[in-house]
Amino acid sequence: MNPFISVRGGNQLHGQIAIGGMKNAALPILFATLLIRGTTQIENIPPVTDIETTLLILKAMGAVVTRLSPTALRINADAAEPDAVPRELTTRLRASSYLLGAGLGRFGRIRTGLPGGCDFGSRPIDLHFRLFSAMGAETRYNANDVEAVAPKGLHGARVRLGFPSVGATVNGILAAVTANGRTVIENAAREPHVVDLAVFLNKCGARVSGAGTPCVTIDGVAELHGCCHRVVPDMIEAGTYLAAVAGTGGRVRLTSVEPRHLGAILDRLNAMGVFTEVGKGCVTAARTSPLLGTDIETLPYPGFPTDMQPQFAPLLSLSSGGGCIWERVWDDRFRYAEELRRMGATVAVKNRCACFRGNDRLIGGKVAATDLRAGAAMLIAGLCAEGTTTVTQPYHIDRGYPDLIQHLHDLGADVARTE
Ligand code: EPZ
Repeated sequence: MNPFISVRGGNQLHGQIAIGGMKNAALPILFATLLIRGTTQIENIPPVTDIETTLLILKAMGAVVTRLSPTALRINADAAEPDAVPRELTTRLRASSYLLGAGLGRFGRIRTGLPGGCDFGSRPIDLHFRLFSAMGAETRYNANDVEAVAPKGLHGARVRLGFPSVGATVNGILAAVTANGRTVIENAAREPHVVDLAVFLNKCGARVSGAGTPCVTIDGVAELHGCCHRVVPDMIEAGTYLAAVAGTGGRVRLTSVEPRHLGAILDRLNAMGVFTEVGKGCVTAARTSPLLGTDIETLPYPGFPTDMQPQFAPLLSLSSGGGCIWERVWDDRFRYAEELRRMGATVAVKNRCACFRGNDRLIGGKVAATDLRAGAAMLIAGLCAEGTTTVTQPYHIDRGYPDLIQHLHDLGADVARTE
C-alpha cells in the first residue's frame, strides 16, 4: 500500500507549538559551506527530506557532516570534489542549483543534474546564467546536466535581474563572495532567507551588504572561515499553522517565530476576521466567528508569499463571500484546485487567477498532495471538512514540514499517517 495521511475533520486546534528553522534559508547555507575553509556549526536546521537530500549531496562530494542533534550539525567541506556531484540526487530538489554558484566560487567549475523541485510550470534558470556570465563564467546545459565553468576565475559585475528571483539572488551571492572585485545585484530578492544567507556568510568573513533591500553589494574576499549560525525561523511553516487554526477555529500560539516576517500573512488573516496577536518571538491566532472572504495577491517579499497561497485556498472556500487569489510569481500554481473540487469547493481557475465562490461545505475525500504547499493545503482542507480525508503522496509534504502530523495531533487534530 502506498503511504497516505488520513484526517478526520471537525476538531478545533488549541495549544502551542515551536516553529523550526526555515528550509529555504537552511538550503543555501548548507550549499554555501562548500565555500568555507574549516568547520561550520549550523543550528535550527529543519529535519525534512530536502535537507537530508542536500546533506547526501554534500557528503557524496566529500564533505564531513557530524550530527550534534536532530537540528544541529557541524560540516567541513575542505575535502569536497567538484567531480563527485551525485546527479541523481540533485534532480530531486530545486536548491541543487545553488551548487552552481557555490561550485564556481570554490572550484571554478561544476557540473550538476538539472534541478528538480515542485512543478509550477516552467522554472527557468536564465537569470542565474546571466549573473554567472557577467562574472566571467560560461554555462551550458542539455536535457540532463547543467555545467558552469570559469577557467580564469570570477570577477565582480553589476547585474539587474528582470525579476527579483530568490534563486538567482542566492546564486549571485554565492558566486560573488570569493570573486575578484565588487558585484552589485539590482532588483534582488528581499526574502528573509536571502538575508539569513548574507548574515551567515558575513560571519564567515564575507562582505555582503544591502541584503533585504533591492540592491545587494558583494565585495569578494580571498577566503571564508567557519562560524556558528542559527537558521531563522520558518515563516511558511508558521503561516501554515496560522492558516490551519483559521480554518478549524480555536486558538494556537506559535513560539520561536520572527513576527516581522509574517506581516503580509497576518494582514490577510485579519482581513478574514481572524484574531492575531504578536509578541516577542511568538504569535497567537484565534478564530471564534465565521471566516470572511477576501482577495489575495502573491508577490515577492515583503508581499504575500506564493508559498502560502495554497494553504489559504480552503479558507476562501469556507469563507462567506469567497475571494480570488492572483498568483504573480509562478505560471501554474493552481494544480491543487482540482483536488479541492473533489472535496466540494467551487473554484474557477483562469491563467494566474483562482476565484473561490465561498460558503462551500468541504466533504472528506481522497486527494493528492500535488506539491509541498499544496499538500499542506489538502491537510488544512481535511481538518475543516466533514468526514475523513485521505491525502496521498505525503512525500511532498515531508520535503518541507518537520513533525507536521505530530504537531497537528498535539493541537487536537484527528490525523494519522499510514506507511
Ligand atoms: C524559491 O524558489 C523557493 N524555493 C520557492 O519555494 C518559492 O516559491 C520561490 O523562491 C518564490 O518565493 C527555495 O527557496 C528552495 P524564484 P526559486 O527564482 O528560487 C522566475 C517552497 O514551497 N525565474 O524566486 O526557484 C520563475 O520562473 C518552494 O518551499 C525566471 O524567470 O524561485 C518564477 O516565475 C516552492 N528565471 C519567478 O522568477 C530565473 O532564472 C520566481 O522564481 C529564475 C526565476
